[in-house]
Amino acid sequence: MKTNIALSVICLAAASAFGGIKDAYTGRFHVGAALGKWVYEQTPNAESDLVAANFSSITAENEMKPERVQPREGEFHWDSADKFVAFGERHGMKIIGHCLVWHYQTPDWFFKNADGSKADRETLIARMRTHIHAVVGRYKGRVHGWDVVNEAFDDAGALHPSPWRDGIGDDFIELAFRFAHEADPNAELYYNDFNMFNQSKIAGVLRMVREFRAKGVRIDGVGLQSHNGLGGPAVADYERSIQRIGAEGVKAMVTELDVSVLPNAWGLTADPTKLHDYEEKYNPYTKGCPADVLEAQAKRYCELFEMYLRNSDIIDRVTLWGVNDATTWFNDYPVPGRTDYPLFFDKDLKAKPCAEAVEKLGREWKGEKTALKPDVLTTGTAGGFIGATVGMYATRGR
Ligand code: G3I
Repeated sequence: MKTNIALSVICLAAASAFGGIKDAYTGRFHVGAALGKWVYEQTPNAESDLVAANFSSITAENEMKPERVQPREGEFHWDSADKFVAFGERHGMKIIGHCLVWHYQTPDWFFKNADGSKADRETLIARMRTHIHAVVGRYKGRVHGWDVVNEAFDDAGALHPSPWRDGIGDDFIELAFRFAHEADPNAELYYNDFNMFNQSKIAGVLRMVREFRAKGVRIDGVGLQSHNGLGGPAVADYERSIQRIGAEGVKAMVTELDVSVLPNAWGLTADPTKLHDYEEKYNPYTKGCPADVLEAQAKRYCELFEMYLRNSDIIDRVTLWGVNDATTWFNDYPVPGRTDYPLFFDKDLKAKPCAEAVEKLGREWKGEKTALKPDVLTTGTAGGFIGATVGMYATRGR
């Protein structure tokens, strides 16, 4: 109760001086951002300056994904990824590679023979190894850590079907981690997924972590994507997952944080592989976000960052999935053409109330760290947010 009151006071008293967000969290965890290519390809620009001042870690939002790096077999496109890495190096940032193995944004050629038939296990393994060695090898010693495998588990904590799993078998994740480690033995390696507040899902992921460690397969951290709404997930579920990750002896990475302010439209399509049709009722703030909604968002961000601060011994990095509201992925998912406001900066690159509140919270926070709870390794109930903001994302057939 005391903590809540203190938190509200910090959050609601607007910060007069806005400094760099990253500096307010020095010694706790990195504060990062995912960047679109317009930020780093031709610098400096207003957004690259803003990024340099506020973030100490960067992730490429799209330009290191398989469809961008190797659209056709053996045809590698490095230009944008090279510029991304050079930008991070110029600013002394922790550079994150995203992502090596995923079933989405990965061209079909990975999974097919020239005649269109399904490629066999050995072919897929060879293609995976070649891709990982090419990408990780190119940035050896320069990219600090890789999202090696993205989104392989379902909400029940089992592996879901995907072209990688169907073609190789359940060991496709382990192989990907082994290949990444071969290509750069010093790089950190992460498993990254959404809905990680769900205790059944995190239990499945952590079973894999335990198995990897027992076999000597390198894994340094678990990424919680954290695409949030104003109302969920519950901080308690989310914190429990972070503590369970810590109890396994690996780091927790908050990899794709944002807080949508729009009505939840996940789970509304009958066909989960399609986006939901546009409807005005799902897009209420086309002419600007009301002040009370921005305040509610600032409180929500503070709740989350206070939890991250309490668990800063476990958390290595908190990365926002974008920089400004004009270019957020939430404007097109799960309903195309909406106007959302999920990030720290507005379309004019002005710091929003959430950015000011989070920066102030970091500078002034003197709270206690959370001790690992004794029951943290036992399986709890699933979080109360399944089917909400990111729930259907699990089954969008990607
Ligand atoms: O760049 C092309 C452009 O040339 C073309 O004209 C246009 C036409 O649609 O598409 C542009 O590419 C889009 C790309 O974003 C860049 O804006 C793709 O269509 C679009 O599918 C792609 O969406 C990305 C999405 O992953 C794909 O699933 C989002 O930007 C990106 O934020 C999002 O990131 C994922 C993480 O990698 C994994 N976790 C979930 C997260 C959010 O979906």
